Amino acid sequence: MWILFSVNRKILSINGPYFSIKGKVFFITKEKQAKSIFVLMKETLDRKAHWQKIYAEKDTQQVSWYQEIPQHSLDWMAKLELGKEAAILDVGAGDSRLPDQLLQMGYQAITVLDISAKALEKAQTRLGEDADKIKWIVSDVLDLEEIEAVALWHDRAAFHFLRSPEDIESYVQKAAQFVLPGGHLLIGSFSTDGPPKCSGLEIQQYSETSIKRTFEKYFDLLETERLIHHTPSGSSQEFLFALFRSREIDQ
Ligand SMILES: C[S@@+](CC[C@H](N)C(=O)[O-])C[C@H]1O[C@@H](n2cnc3c(N)ncnc32)[C@H](O)[C@@H]1O
Repeated sequence: MWILFSVNRKILSINGPYFSIKGKVFFITKEKQAKSIFVLMKETLDRKAHWQKIYAEKDTQQVSWYQEIPQHSLDWMAKLELGKEAAILDVGAGDSRLPDQLLQMGYQAITVLDISAKALEKAQTRLGEDADKIKWIVSDVLDLEEIEAVALWHDRAAFHFLRSPEDIESYVQKAAQFVLPGGHLLIGSFSTDGPPKCSGLEIQQYSETSIKRTFEKYFDLLETERLIHHTPSGSSQEFLFALFRSREIDQ
């Protein structure tokens, strides 16, 4: 019997010992392939369940990553001198105050994405009527399919949860696909001197060298900076922020 399964989190129907995605044909063996597919599906479900629980149970202002004003991100964005109409995507935004600040500054094309619907509900409730000025996407970033390419892809403390080479590669591909040529990618992850975990989950730490290597196929690294985040409970976490510019790609 052939089975239904997910590759890159897409559900596909298998009719035989091969299948195709976007014109590429893949061959499978039944049992072995099935095992890795179910691991993939489980990872996605676990990830979503984890974040739904966090946002359902915790007060946003008490979580370790909370910032009343996301100053580091705002400082980096100021350097880019984006027009107010520039499309900005905040990946793994959660209940961050960044969209509030961007709205106040007059940005008109903000998209907020998170795997947790609960997180976005909280942000929408806080913003009230202003929430209508933002496009909201509940999705695993690795499943992102349909958005207009953006001038700025911002990610503070979401990318670093991806640890397998496949997931990291998949994220890089999504960023390459959805950042305009000449557009920017701003990633804030825990540095090699930062914590090994965030929200109870192991994360991937980055150095200046490893972050550059991770994105260099499609992006030129412009600048990095190590910055200290002071958590609501009073501890310090070292982040590495890295700003990249997208190159023209042939996809
Ligand atoms: C540590 S929080 C950071 C939130 C926000 N960026 C900030 O700086 O306040 C990580 C966020 O990433 C989201 N997240 C984790 N993995 C994700 C994924 N694969 N796709 C989309 N969002 C994800 C979580 O739901 C959570 O809101």
